[in-house]
Amino acid sequence: MALTLTEMTAPDGFEQLVLAQDPDVGMRALICVHSTVLGPAAGGCRMWPYADDAAAIHDVTRLARGMTYKNAMADLGLGGGKSVIIGDARHDKTPALMQAFGRAVDTLAGRYYTAEDVGISPEDMAHAASQTAYAVGLSNASGDPSPWTAEGVFRCLKIGATHVFGTDDLTDRRVLVQGLGHVGMSLAEKLHAAGARLIVTDINQAALDDAQARLGASVCAPDQVFDQPMDIFAPCALGGVLTTKAAAQLQARLVCGAANNQLATDAVAQILADRQITYLPDYVVNAGGIISVASEIHAQPDTWRLERLIAIAGRVDQMLTRAKAEGRLIPDIADQMVHDMLTGRKAA
Ligand SMILES: NC(=O)c1ccc[n+]([C@@H]2O[C@H](COP(=O)([O-])OP(=O)(O)OC[C@H]3O[C@@H](n4cnc5c(N)ncnc54)[C@H](O)[C@@H]3O)[C@@H](O)[C@H]2O)c1
Repeated sequence: MALTLTEMTAPDGFEQLVLAQDPDVGMRALICVHSTVLGPAAGGCRMWPYADDAAAIHDVTRLARGMTYKNAMADLGLGGGKSVIIGDARHDKTPALMQAFGRAVDTLAGRYYTAEDVGISPEDMAHAASQTAYAVGLSNASGDPSPWTAEGVFRCLKIGATHVFGTDDLTDRRVLVQGLGHVGMSLAEKLHAAGARLIVTDINQAALDDAQARLGASVCAPDQVFDQPMDIFAPCALGGVLTTKAAAQLQARLVCGAANNQLATDAVAQILADRQITYLPDYVVNAGGIISVASEIHAQPDTWRLERLIAIAGRVDQMLTRAKAEGRLIPDIADQMVHDMLTGRKAA
C-alpha cells in the first residue's frame, strides 16, 4: 500500500489541507478542513479532471469554506470540509482508487466526514466506507438526500412568499422550476400539490413530458427563462445562473431554489435587491441534503431531520426580517449570522 499524505500550507483561516496520493491505484486527492469550531468537518468528495493542482486547491478550499457556512446555518454540530479527487470520474474511477481515498480519510481520525458530490455515487462511497467509518451518505443508511433538500427548499419558499406576497398560499402563484432532476422534480410535485402554476425548463425532454403530463406544467426553453413572466424563480439545475444580465432581466419577485452558487458574482445580490427581488441564499435553503447526511453521522431519526428543516425555515424568516429592518442585503445577514455562530456571539 503506497498511500502517502503530505500536509500542505493551508490558506489563512483554514485549519488543514492534505494531499493524499497512492500511485499504485492512480489516486491523487486533496482533503481540506476549513473549520472544526462547531464539530468535525463534513462535506462531500468531488471527482473532477482539474487542469492542475492549483485549480484543485482553489476548488477544495472554496467548497470547504462553503460547507462551514452551510453546516453552521443548519445547526448540525458539524464544521466544514471538502475533498476532491483529481481525475475523470468516467475513466479513472475504480474501487481500488475509492478504497485508497477511504484510507486517506481515515488518517484524519474523524476530523473530516466525506460523502458523495459531483462524480461520486453512493456505490463509490461504499468502497471508501469499507476502509473508514468517516464515509457517509450510503444508500443503506440515510439514503437519497434529494427529497430532504426539496422539502427544505419548499418550506423556505413558503416563508419567502409570506414576506413578499403577504401569504404563503401558493394557489395560482407562477413558479418557474429550472431543472427537473432529483430535487427539482420533487419540488415541482410539492408546488403542484400546493396549487402553484408551474413553468418548467430542462434539457431533458422526458422530464419535461413527465411534468407536463402529471403536474400540468407549461414548458419554457432553457434560454427563455429570463424572458418569462413569473412570481417565483426556483433554480434547481446549475450554479451561476444569476448573472448580471439575468438578474437585470428576471421577472420574479422571489428566488428560492436548490442549485449551489446561484449568484454568478457577489454584485448580483445588489442588483436583485435594487429590483425588489428577494433572493434566499442557496446555502441556507438547500441544506436539507446535508441535514440528511448529518443524521447518519449523528445516528439520528427522521424527527431530527425534520426539526432541522423547520429550524432552517425559521432562520430564513429571521434573516428576511433583519434584512428589512437593517436595510442590508439578505446574503450579508446570512453570512453575519454564521459569523456570529462561529465566534460564539448571539445575533444582534
Ligand atoms: N441533491 C441534493 O440533495 C442537493 C443538495 C444541495 C444542493 N443541490 C444542488 O441542486 C441542484 C440540483 O441537484 P439534483 O440532485 O437535482 O441534480 P440532478 O443532476 O438530478 O438534476 C439537475 C437537472 O438539471 C437539468 N439541467 C442541466 N442543465 C440545464 C439547463 N441548462 N437548463 C435547465 N435544466 C438543466 C438536468 O437535465 C437535470 O434534470 C444542483 O445544483 C445541486 O448541486 C442538490
